[in-house]
Amino acid sequence: MGQPIVDHVVDKLFGKRQPEVMVGIDSIFDLVYDMLASTITLRRGDSCMIMGPRSAGKTLMVSKVLEKLNSNYSDDFLTIKLNGTIHADDKQAVRAIARQIDEATNNQEADKLEKPSMAVTMQNFLTLFEQANFSETNYKSVVFIIEDIDQFTSAGKQTLLYNLLDLSQSSVIGVAVVGLSCRMNAAELLEKRVRSRFSQRLYNLPKPKSRQDFVSRCASLLQVDPSVQIDGAQEWNTKITRLMDQDGLGDVVSEVYYTSKDLRYFGTRVGPYLQGKNHKDLCAEWFIDSVISKLNVPSSTDTLLPSLSELEWALLLCSARASTRYSIDSVNLVLAQTEYYAMAQALSIERSSVTGVGYRVWSAKAIRLAWERLQQLELLVPTGTAQSGQEDLKMLRPETGLQELRGFLPPNHPLFSWTRL
Ligand SMILES: Nc1ncnc2c1ncn2[C@@H]1O[C@H](COP(=O)(O)OP(=O)(O)OP(=O)(O)O)[C@@H](O)[C@H]1O
Ligand SMILES: [Mg+2]
Repeated sequence: MGQPIVDHVVDKLFGKRQPEVMVGIDSIFDLVYDMLASTITLRRGDSCMIMGPRSAGKTLMVSKVLEKLNSNYSDDFLTIKLNGTIHADDKQAVRAIARQIDEATNNQEADKLEKPSMAVTMQNFLTLFEQANFSETNYKSVVFIIEDIDQFTSAGKQTLLYNLLDLSQSSVIGVAVVGLSCRMNAAELLEKRVRSRFSQRLYNLPKPKSRQDFVSRCASLLQVDPSVQIDGAQEWNTKITRLMDQDGLGDVVSEVYYTSKDLRYFGTRVGPYLQGKNHKDLCAEWFIDSVISKLNVPSSTDTLLPSLSELEWALLLCSARASTRYSIDSVNLVLAQTEYYAMAQALSIERSSVTGVGYRVWSAKAIRLAWERLQQLELLVPTGTAQSGQEDLKMLRPETGLQELRGFLPPNHPLFSWTRL
C-alpha cells in the first residue's frame, strides 16, 4: 500500500504535482492576473513576457493565475498552451493551436481547423479570431501561454509570434499572449515587427532572495498543505519544520541555497530519500546520505569569499548593489562598472578629505580581469548567452545577495559600507 503523505510530498519534490500555494507570491502575480482578467472581461488584447531563471516559479505562477481566472470566469475564456521547446517550429505550433481549439470547441471532422496543409490551418484559425463570436460555445476570449518563447525566435522568421501578437492587437475577441522564458534577453530576440506589436510588459521573476525565502519554498514542497486532508499531516509538518533546522535536511537546504537556489534541484536531492518510506518513521537520518560533504562542493560561497581580492569584492558588491537597486536578477559588466566607478570615486573623495590620500580606482583592464575571475569562481552565473564580442553585455546573476555578502565582510573592511544601498 502506498504512503499517502510520502507519495504526496515526493510528487511535489519531483514536480509531478504543484504545491497548493505559491510561497512569496509576487506582485507579478497580480499584474498578470489583472491583465488577463481585463482581456476576458473587456475583450482587451494584451501581451506580456515573464522572464526568470530556471525553477524560479514561472510555470507555477502562471498556473496559479489560470486557476484563479478559472474560478472567477470559468467558461469565458479558452487557454491555449504552446511550448517553444516541444513545438520547435511554427508548423508544429500552428497544429497544436488548431488541435486545442478543435478539442475545446468539440469541432466535428468537417469543421476541424486542423487540415493537412499548414497554410490552410493557419488561415482557418486566423479567420476564426476575426469573427465577433469566437465559436458556438461560450468562450469569449483566448489566452495564449507560450513556454520557452525564446525558442520561437531562434528558427527563421517569427511568423507565428507576429500573427499571435497582431491578433492580440486587432482581434475583436480578447486575445492575450503570455510568453515565458528563462532568457533575460528574451524580449530583445524579437524581430522589430514582432516587438512593435508587443505590449512591452516585461516582468522578471527572480530566484529566492534570502535563505528564509528559500526555506519557505522548500517547506511548501516538503509539507502537506492544510487544504489537502491526509491523516497525520499536521504531525508530519511539525517534524519537517524541526528537521529543516537540523543536520541532514538543514544542510541540504543550505547547500542548495548557497550553490544554485534551484528548487527543482532541491527536489531531486531529497526526493529519493523519502521514496517508499513510512511517514511515521520520519527522522533526521533519512537525509544524512543526501548531504554532499562540504569538502566536495567546489563553489561553496563560504570558502570562496575570503579568497577574493579587494577589487573582486568591490565588483561583487557592485553587482549585488545594481541588482538590488534596479530590482533585476542579473547584471552586466557595464552596469557593475558604472556602480563601481560611482562608489570608488565617492570613497576616494571622502578619504582624501579626511586623510589627504584618496582611494585607488582600478583601470578598466583590471576590472575586466576581476570580472572574469568572478565568473570562473561561479560567483557570477550567466543567465543568457551573449553574442560573441559583446562580453560587456553578457547578463550574469550574482549568486550572493547584498545582505549575505554583508555577513561575510568584517565590519572594519574598507568596503563594508558598500553592503548597504
Ligand atoms: N514560490 C514557490 N513556492 C513553492 N514552490 C515553488 C515556487 N517556485 C517554484 N516552485 C516549485 O519549483 C519547481 C520549479 O518551478 P517552475 O516549474 O514553476 O519553474 P520555472 O520558472 O517555470 O522553470 P523553467 O524555466 O525550467 O520552466 C516546481 O516544482 C514548483 O512547484
Ligand atoms: Mg517552466
